[in-house]
Amino acid sequence: MNGDNKSDFDKIVASIQDDMDKEAEAIFSKKVIEEFKHPHNIGRMKDPDSVAVITGSCGDTMEIFLKVKENKITDILFMTDGCGSSIACGSMVTRMVKGKAINDVKKITNINLIDALDGLPDENKHCAKLAVDTVQKGIKDYLDKNGGENYARRSR
Ligand code: FES
Repeated sequence: MNGDNKSDFDKIVASIQDDMDKEAEAIFSKKVIEEFKHPHNIGRMKDPDSVAVITGSCGDTMEIFLKVKENKITDILFMTDGCGSSIACGSMVTRMVKGKAINDVKKITNINLIDALDGLPDENKHCAKLAVDTVQKGIKDYLDKNGGENYARRSR
């Protein structure tokens, strides 16, 4: 392929990307697209205090890894094999949770997450539920394993 052909190829790819971006913008909020394109807190943690894995109604899986200290979520990572919206949800929910007290995180709902993303289409609302349910499972498992909130309050 010579330089001109490559340049033509690049133009075609850029044009397809542009069309896809316009399609996404017609469906999703700017925040969803931003969190999907540049996700925060994505990855697997080597030595977490709690790990939760849930497979949602759509068949996609969300994993959440938590580090807890003095009743606070000091670190959180997520991983998913799901859709773009699940990546946006994982990214945003981890940003909402990081640094917060466990008792405050327990109050976060999928509605809060959808609001933080400036909305989601109806067919993607379950992606927010998957992300929040997985965070809540990680917290519950942590508290169950460590003797409840009193342990979380006094230790680490
Ligand atoms: S998490 Fe399965 S479609 Fe979004």
